[in-house]
Amino acid sequence: MTLLQVMAAAGPGDIRVRTTDEAAITAELAEHGIAFDRWPVVERAESVDSDELLARYADEVAALNESGRYEHIDIARIHPNDADPAWAEVAAGARAKFLDEHRHAEDEVRFFAAGRGCFYLHLGEEVLAVVCEAGDLLSVPAGTLHWFDMGTRPDFVAIRFFEEADGWVGDFTGAKISRDFPSLDELLTAP
Ligand SMILES: [Fe+2]
Repeated sequence: MTLLQVMAAAGPGDIRVRTTDEAAITAELAEHGIAFDRWPVVERAESVDSDELLARYADEVAALNESGRYEHIDIARIHPNDADPAWAEVAAGARAKFLDEHRHAEDEVRFFAAGRGCFYLHLGEEVLAVVCEAGDLLSVPAGTLHWFDMGTRPDFVAIRFFEEADGWVGDFTGAKISRDFPSLDELLTAP
């Protein structure tokens, strides 16, 4: 379930909004200039191979990329694999990669075809945590301070859109603010 939780940047205990209402989420994000959209969900997208998945979303991708600004469009996927003894380490490493506050030189545009992940947008005095689920498209504007939590059991398939091949590279601020805020796992279990 898509979730938006708005907290004071000074203290995550000060929860100003918590909603799973799609219209409310879209409106709140739009107020901050954050594009959020819903695309149709492909059943069991996690078992559809990447080329086929891009073909299934060809119309939506073409509409989003009408200007041709995204020259690199690919699919990132990670799923629990408990049969692999190294998986826990792989998962922790993947999770740690963007768990600290950073920004990018271009918009970070992600469509979740399956699974979930949480973007935390640090906008002035507030932090907006957006838990994206299958069917959600979020665009984090270039230069926006943010971090991303895929949880302790990372599980998602996402279409990524880049203007430059290295558009995913993060400029880390060195701030440890993310450690003060509820993790994806905690957000999902909160009442
Ligand atoms: Fe990022």
